This record gives sequence, C-alpha cells and structure tokens, in this order.
Amino acid sequence: MTKPIILVVGARPNFMKIAPIYAELESRSQPLILLHTGQHYDDNMSKVFFDDLGMPKPDIYLGIGSGSHAYQTATVMIEFEKICQEKDPSMVVVVGDVNSTVACSIVCAKLNIPCAHVEAGLRSFDREMPEEINRILTDSVANLLLTPSPDGDENLRAEGVAEERIVRVGNVMIDSLYSNLEKAKQSSVKSDFGLQEKYAILTLHRPSNVDDKENFAGIIGALEHIGKNIQIIFPMHPRTEKMAKSFSLYERIESIPNIVITGPVGYLDFVALMASSALALTDSGGLQEETTALGIPCITLRENTERPITVTEGTNTIVGCDPELIKKTAMDVLETGGKSGRIPELWDGKTSQRIADVLLQYISANGD
Ligand code: UD1
Ligand code: UDP
Repeated sequence: MTKPIILVVGARPNFMKIAPIYAELESRSQPLILLHTGQHYDDNMSKVFFDDLGMPKPDIYLGIGSGSHAYQTATVMIEFEKICQEKDPSMVVVVGDVNSTVACSIVCAKLNIPCAHVEAGLRSFDREMPEEINRILTDSVANLLLTPSPDGDENLRAEGVAEERIVRVGNVMIDSLYSNLEKAKQSSVKSDFGLQEKYAILTLHRPSNVDDKENFAGIIGALEHIGKNIQIIFPMHPRTEKMAKSFSLYERIESIPNIVITGPVGYLDFVALMASSALALTDSGGLQEETTALGIPCITLRENTERPITVTEGTNTIVGCDPELIKKTAMDVLETGGKSGRIPELWDGKTSQRIADVLLQYISANGD
C-alpha cells in the first residue's frame, strides 16, 4: 500500500500555502493526511480558512494552542512524533517559518522521515526574529528545500547546503491568491465596513512592533497622521489586540481618525480588501508577497525583510518603525500612487504543480 504524505498546518499563514499543494496531490490520487497542530485555533484564525480555501477538515488535530516558544515547539514535537510513528508517512511537508514548522521538521529528522520545506531559503539575517531561528533550523534538517525566489537558493548555497537539496519552485501562496481572486471580488466586505473608494489596509503582529510599547505607540502616532489623509481598515491580530489592551493603547487606536477596526477577517474577505486598497501598511511576511503580486504599494513596518525580491522587483518599501519615515513614505505613496513593480519569475499560480512533481519524484527515488 502507498504510504501517506503528511501535510502540516499550524498557523494562519500556513493554510493558503498548503491548500493548493493538498489539491494538487489529491488530484494525483496520493494518500494524504492533513495535520493541524492547533497553534492557531480561533475560528477567524483557523476554521474560516478551511471554508474559504475549500480544504477538508484536518484528519488530525493536535490542539496545541498558545504558549511560550519552548512550550509550543516541544508540545508539537511530542505529539507529532507519535503520529509519525503510527502513520509511517512517505514524506512530511512543512511550510513557512512558524513554530509548528520547525517542530515537525526536527521530528522528521530524528525519525529519518523525508521532510520537504516549502518557502525554504528566506533569510532576514535578524536572529532576534523568532521566525529567523525557525527558518535556519528547518532548512538545516529538511531533505528538500523548495524555494520561492533566487535569493533563497543563494542563501542556502552560502550556508553550504548541497545543490541537490535545493529546488526553486516559485511562490505557492500566489497559487491561492490567483485561484481565489475572482471569488474574493464577489465579497461584500468593503460595503459591510462602509469603506470609501480609497482606503489603506493595515496589519500588525510582529513582537518587535506590538510587544514593545514604545515602538507600538510610535506606529500609532504615524497612523494618527495617515488617518487624516486616508481611511484605514485594520483587521487586528489577537496578539496585537492583547498587547494594545495591556499597554492601554487600545483606546488610542480606536481614536485614530478614519480607522475601521475589526478582528481578523477570512481569506476571501481579506484578499478583497487588499486587492482594492490604495496602500498596504504591514509587518506581515505574506502581505509583502501578495501586494507585489497584486501591484498594490506596500509599506513594511520592519527594519528588514526575508523577502527582498518584493523590494527589488515588487511594490514593497521597507521603512522600519520610525514614525516620521512611515508618515513620509505613506504621504509619498498617496501623492504619487506608489512604486510599481513586476511579478517575480515563477510566481505564476503553478507552484503547487511543480511542488507535487518534486515530491513524487523524491518519494519514488528514495521510497522503500
Ligand atoms: C505566529 C507566528 C508568526 C506568524 C503569525 C501569523 C511563530 C513563532 N510565530 O505568530 O511567525 O507571522 O503566527 O499570524 O510561530 N492567539 C489567539 N487566538 C489564536 C491564536 C493566537 O488569541 O487562534 C493569541 C494568543 O494570545 C497568543 C498570541 O495570539 O498567545 C500569539 O500567538 P502565537 O501563535 O504564539 O504567535 P503569533 O504572534 O500568532
Ligand atoms: N490574512 C487574512 N486575514 C487577515 C489577515 C491576513 O486572511 O485578517 C491572510 C493574508 O492575506 C495572508 C496571510 O493571512 O495570506 C498572512 O498571514 P499573517 O500576516 O498572519 O502571517 P505572516 O505572513 O506574517 O507569517
């Protein structure tokens, strides 16, 4: 009997990366196990994505929940190891850079189960970011490193990774974006929130921005200025809401001129909001890529990016969290319409097909 491939999801940015891979492998009649670690668990951080992306309910739910880095990583490892021993998969696929990603890849390495990392090779070169540690560790133990862009290949080569482990497949998140764009445009979300013709979309959740009161307050100061010039829709991440309340900043956010605050929104609504926006202000990794693919100007409120191609080829500008620079860059974009870019090579909506080819070749060459 053919052994199953386990596809791992854990947190919000994983769902839109796994959905097209799941669909492609399923169309090739591969036995699959969809495993959700439960790192994100609220309906609007998890269930809504299964509905919106047409993914089946997870076959296995580990229910890990929130906690410290060590708690999350270690608990996923303990539970995932049991599943691997029971299910004996031919391959495990992990995506992105969240704690669930690194935890499952380490389990595979210790059990000698082949592991493929989708979105390999990205580096911010900032080890204060928890995701950078996850990227480095995952890439050091996974067998197949599937990269979205040439910078990923170069970073891996510079770390001494053998050439045969690196395959550039393109950006799988863009498969989901393209295949859902038309459906997303049917959403009534813009009128539901009373949005004007021209508005900016804002997301924030990096610990460096929202767990640091001074940085958080500085960003809010910049938004107070930007809001006088354009309406802002802010689907607030639960970490951000929790920290804003604990720093007593929540009421100040509510008082930003022209701001519309909501909880996290589902994928189709979010894509609808992003695709019609004049400007994105964000510290999200995924949004830097999606705005590049959509041609929407993006201002990234971080000091660095692990996705430099969105700056060199796309619509992204890195500004950090200096309020003056945020204000100035946003005003420039509103006056000029912002940077135009081009879509990077292999961000073509066919990445999941290339991923399936690579996985199945690897399994047939290395399987028992
Ligand atoms: C995680 C990832 C980050 C990713 C982000 C995407 C790591 C280290 N971080 O950050 O890379 O960009 O997801 O959104 O893996 N919470 C809820 N409900 C939920 C989930 C979280 O209320 O369904 C709250 C909890 O208070 C929790 C906090 O959000 O403590 C942070 O969640 P966590 O998964 O630890 O990290 P994120 O900031 O979401
Ligand atoms: N997203 C969404 N609803 C929201 C905010 C984001 O559907 O309220 C989507 C967004 O389009 C992208 C992904 O979630 O596909 C990015 O996730 P996030 O910003 O949480 O994580 P990161 O990319 O920073 O790791």
